[in-house]
Amino acid sequence: MFFLLFLPLKSYSADDILRIITPADKTYIQGGQSIDVVSKVEKNALDTMQIFVDGKTVKTITGIKDKEYICLTIPVHPGLNQIMIAGVGADGFPHSGQVSVFVISPISARYNSPPDGYARYLFHSSSSVCFTCHQMDPTISDGRPAKPSDSSCYTCHKDVTNHKYVHGPTAVWACLMCHDPKAQPKYEVPSPAEKACEVCHKDQIDSWKKLNHQHGPFAMGMCTTCHSPHGSDWPFWTRKFPTDLCLSCHVGQTGDHIITFFDGTPHPIRGKPDPRHPGQELSCASCHSPHASNFKFQLFGDYRHPRHFCTQCHFKG
Ligand code: HEC
Ligand code: HEC
Ligand code: HEC
Ligand code: HEC
Ligand code: HEC
Ligand code: HEC
Ligand code: HEC
Ligand code: HEC
Repeated sequence: MFFLLFLPLKSYSADDILRIITPADKTYIQGGQSIDVVSKVEKNALDTMQIFVDGKTVKTITGIKDKEYICLTIPVHPGLNQIMIAGVGADGFPHSGQVSVFVISPISARYNSPPDGYARYLFHSSSSVCFTCHQMDPTISDGRPAKPSDSSCYTCHKDVTNHKYVHGPTAVWACLMCHDPKAQPKYEVPSPAEKACEVCHKDQIDSWKKLNHQHGPFAMGMCTTCHSPHGSDWPFWTRKFPTDLCLSCHVGQTGDHIITFFDGTPHPIRGKPDPRHPGQELSCASCHSPHASNFKFQLFGDYRHPRHFCTQCHFKG
């Protein structure tokens, strides 16, 4: 079965035996760690199918002889993903289908905009065959489902909660708190994202907005540049460990800007316990608020008065 890749698949691909009906070719999606791939297969044409991303097998499915649609959720990565399905037909010939999907990552300079010629993939705004078998519009229980599988989004978007830390409303599948089916395009979250966050975090946002020094992206309401609305591997569902998050825009910033020690090494910016926040690792956010503060550079205190600043971590005496 695994000799498939060595065959000249391309020359056989122009047929209807096997093809990808979603996602659409040469499209991009705004973030996300997985995508739904639905393939259409001619009945009785083949029994086993493999699915590849960038040439690597991600799944092998058998027993598909009397299936017409094969639905799968597969993992994707930021940047270009070459998705291919392939199988050997009962006719003895290999068949395949292929699409390219670009996944945008807001905090990666390399992947923050799509390649030329790629259109935004807006699945819910286009017509599809899915409704013949799936519940495609929200039901009453979607407001606050009793369990995840009661949500009509669950079958197709299980992976949204597949993180170490998951955000409250996402964890309970209250998807419609942010994704309005009446929005245009359907389910589109208002921009900037702050408008969606305000619904539940208004007091916190207002209190930051009153402070004298606001951080650029916070002031512009770009909450989801730094926070995933769903979840991540880090507390507060930041898209990266805070130091890496800051460095993705403040490229090349080192601990030199705090102080350089006599031996030439810079002040640490990670890898040590944060004395002000027990249990957390030292990061840029140990000294700078990512949102706002009353001190220059959004620091937690006035750095020109070492007594008020350095000594908060380096105890006197
Ligand atoms: C707190 C608001 C919020 C909640 C709750 C929420 N989302 Fe999202 N979602 C967003 C925003 C904002 C985006 C835009 C892309 C981004 O910033 O990651 C998005 C993007 C998406 C996308 C497209 C790209 C991706 O990240 O995969 C899907 C699919 C999605 N949401 C599904 C869901 C489902 C299913 C739920 C419920 C389990 C849910 N969302 C709950 C705010 C939310
Ligand atoms: C002929 C019926 C049929 C059609 C048409 C169909 N599906 Fe499915 N789909 C199923 C069945 C059956 C399942 C498995 C049952 C389940 O998980 O709820 C499934 C499961 C899925 C899953 C979960 C796969 C996984 O790995 O967990 C996704 C995602 C999905 N469908 C998306 C779609 C999309 C998108 C379309 C339209 C492009 C579509 N389906 C069209 C029948 C269909
Ligand atoms: C039959 C499968 C199916 C169901 C049910 C479904 N979605 Fe989707 N959704 C998809 C597919 C396919 C995409 C394209 C991106 C992907 O594959 O993750 C998508 C994309 C999205 C996006 C990105 C914008 C877009 O239109 O492409 C959002 C937001 C989203 N879904 C929210 C929801 C919410 C909220 C629900 C439940 C009320 C839901 N979806 C139910 C299949 C489904
Ligand atoms: C439907 C209400 C709701 C919306 C909308 C919402 N949140 Fe939340 N958020 C919560 C709840 C409830 C908690 C506390 C439970 C938890 O820790 O998940 C929370 C917690 C958080 C936390 C962690 C706070 C802490 O002190 O632990 C962050 C960060 C956060 N949300 C970011 C966002 C961002 C960014 C948005 C906008 C994209 C947003 N939230 C939109 C309900 C919401
Ligand atoms: C530049 C990146 C960045 C932006 C933009 C940003 N945050 Fe944060 N946020 C962080 C980081 C990093 C943390 C965790 C470190 C900390 O507690 O300060 C955090 C923590 C939080 C917390 C929990 C901790 C607390 O202090 O209460 C909430 C709630 C929160 N953010 C909401 C928001 C909202 C709402 C927005 C948009 C208005 C936003 N953030 C914009 C990076 C950011
Ligand atoms: C999405 C890009 C982005 C991310 C991520 C980001 N910043 Fe910024 N930061 C900016 C922009 C834009 C400005 C405003 C630039 C200016 O005014 O010179 C700024 C300004 C600053 C300033 C003030 C600089 C000055 O000269 O006044 C500090 C301090 C700062 N950021 C620290 C951080 C820290 C700490 C983090 C991580 C928690 C972070 N930034 C994450 C984009 C970002
Ligand atoms: C131990 C506390 C501390 C940590 C950790 C820290 N900073 Fe700073 N940061 C400062 C102080 C103090 C200043 C003011 C320095 C000066 O201008 O003399 C400053 C100034 C800045 C400035 C504005 C002046 C400049 O150099 O451009 C930026 C931007 C900045 N920091 C970003 C970061 C980033 C990004 C990180 C993480 C990689 C970080 N800081 C980690 C204390 C810290
Ligand atoms: C948010 C807490 C924090 C602040 C504020 C801070 N530091 Fe540090 N500093 C640390 C941590 C953590 C280490 C690593 C200690 C270790 O190796 O165990 C460190 C290490 C040092 C060291 C190396 C010697 C030692 O104690 O290990 C010096 C010198 C130092 N810092 C000076 C400063 C100066 C000067 C300032 C003010 C401009 C400052 N620090 C502000 C957290 C901080």
